[in-house]
Amino acid sequence: MNTQSNSQSSGSKPKILVARAIFPEALAKLEESFEVFSNQEDQIFSTEELQKELADVVGALVAGSERIDATALAHAKNLKVVANISVGYNNFDVPAMTAAGVMATNTPDVLTDTTADFGFALLMATARRITESEHWVRNGHWDKWSIVHNPLGMDLHHSTIGIIGMGRIGQGIAKRALAFGMKVIYNNRSRLSELDEKACGATYVTKEELLRAADHVVLVLPYTAQNHHTIGAKEIALMKPTATLINIARGGIVDDLALAQALKEKKIFAAGLDVFEGEPQVNPELLKLSNVVLAPHIASATEKTRRAMVDLAIENLRAALAGNKPPSLINTELLKA
Ligand code: 8YV
Repeated sequence: MNTQSNSQSSGSKPKILVARAIFPEALAKLEESFEVFSNQEDQIFSTEELQKELADVVGALVAGSERIDATALAHAKNLKVVANISVGYNNFDVPAMTAAGVMATNTPDVLTDTTADFGFALLMATARRITESEHWVRNGHWDKWSIVHNPLGMDLHHSTIGIIGMGRIGQGIAKRALAFGMKVIYNNRSRLSELDEKACGATYVTKEELLRAADHVVLVLPYTAQNHHTIGAKEIALMKPTATLINIARGGIVDDLALAQALKEKKIFAAGLDVFEGEPQVNPELLKLSNVVLAPHIASATEKTRRAMVDLAIENLRAALAGNKPPSLINTELLKA
């Protein structure tokens, strides 16, 4: 696959790569200042293709699909910045980027409320069996209203929500939960300040306490090697049989096969998943089940927010190439050198 440059005056402008399709207006604006190698076809680069595309550019806009590590950077002698169009940056090997003198940036804040809204929507759909009910109606199974035979769900109001990962998005979900009269408990790498705990009405508990007490467990923690399979068979065994599990964090935080097995055996009530191990592949065992709501990694997917994410990534890229500090620089240690 080859990227396209539409620039009239190639050679005179700094070269950048836009590794995934972006909004045409944003691309046109970039083309005023840069020779842009763009991938509006939105094909995913292979490792070799990405390495080749990065070899000649000073900056790149990428998303979670592009792994930026020592291999990708091997020939990128001119590269100064890689701007992720994503708040999560587990696709970045940050130490490798820092060693290569490449700034790494992400897109925090602009997606917080949109993502928290979606987390809550997925929780509601899961607990109240909305997608399962829709399939039931579409498939012609609704022959009469029934007190006991229509899909019966679990309440959100006045239940206990357990949030694992209490960053900006986790706190956004907690604030929404308060409006539903829910009790909020959380677990996080570090405890929030008293002020932040108060703003979310949230009580800090251990992961085990959370899993035992929560009616709804919501995962919003970043993916790291330490967080791999934060939820597996052992953790699911601690949960209530009436509980739901929501993953809007990253694939790999949950052991999807263990979850499918637990859902099949009704060890928990239901799950709502926006992210998957090995996505866009979904574990076939999950696809067979009716007590799981599946979404294609769309927590930040509103037009306004995706535009804001692209704009922030471009702002980061422009700042870095102008010799300024990007607003959301990850490897700040580069500036200290
Ligand atoms: C992105 C996300 O759309 O920001 C994140 O961390 O998960 C999503 O908002 C996705 O990661 C793009 O690759």
